Amino acid sequence: MEPFFSVNHLSKRYQSQGRTVQALDDVSFTLARGETLGLAGPSGCGKSTLARIIMRLSPADGGEVRFQGRNWLALSGQDLRAARRHVQMVFQDTYGAFNPRATVADAIGEPLRIHRIVAPRDRQAEIARLLERVGLGADYAARPVLQLSGGQRQRVAIARAIACRPSLLVMDEAVSALDVSVRAQILELLVSLQSETGLSCLFVSHDLAVIRAVCHRVAIMEMGRVVEQGETDSVISNPQSDTAKRLIAAVPTLRKDQSHA
Ligand SMILES: Nc1ncnc2c1ncn2[C@@H]1O[C@H](COP(=O)(O)OP(=O)(O)O)[C@@H](O)[C@H]1O
Ligand SMILES: [Mg+2]
Repeated sequence: MEPFFSVNHLSKRYQSQGRTVQALDDVSFTLARGETLGLAGPSGCGKSTLARIIMRLSPADGGEVRFQGRNWLALSGQDLRAARRHVQMVFQDTYGAFNPRATVADAIGEPLRIHRIVAPRDRQAEIARLLERVGLGADYAARPVLQLSGGQRQRVAIARAIACRPSLLVMDEAVSALDVSVRAQILELLVSLQSETGLSCLFVSHDLAVIRAVCHRVAIMEMGRVVEQGETDSVISNPQSDTAKRLIAAVPTLRKDQSHA
């Protein structure tokens, strides 16, 4: 049976100032329903490029993405508009992702309205339900998004993403700017949302400790290529590529695990 989601031989080049950067070079992986796949690799290896292509924010040069049996990159017009709600993204920099004047209710209400998820008269109640679900409480609805803390804003970004009841969530360094205790709470929220809804997640991070906390499998990238992929625990305990070894060495807690293994 065809996987729920797959990226097949994807490639992408950028031309800038007379130079060509091969940001993605023959990248392939699959994702099952309810699964979280980590994409890890050093800065500049192509993670955000991949996330942006999957989100249809930027075109690929070659290869394909298949989602629920459809050629995802070929969807256009009304088909694409209708399908977009199924794939949602949370970025690192949610400060820039919100309209500066938006309240929390505006931010979460927008996808509900655009994708007609609930009837207009039920919108306020749905916003309250989503706020409760991400651990903020309904009284946050009237607050300006930009007055929230980083962790609260990421909860709003998650509420807005799950408002569409997506089947795939793409998170690009979504917890990287948060301090350790807030980060742990957001990761816990993600895991509990997944067990409730069967959401699949593509979780981009340069930090293997974060990847290990939430990802069933991990793909390690370097210079636009996937150099290694496997079960998260086995990649971390027995890395094959130099890239994976370097990423592990960069996280003190993982290094310690290794020397005890
Ligand atoms: N819009 C762009 N124009 C030119 N080069 C880009 C652009 N976006 C990314 N790149 C280059 O593509 C490579 C991959 O970048 P990116 O996908 O942002 O990596 P990552 O998210 O892993 O840090 C880098 O060399 C980066 O400089
Ligand atoms: Mg990036």
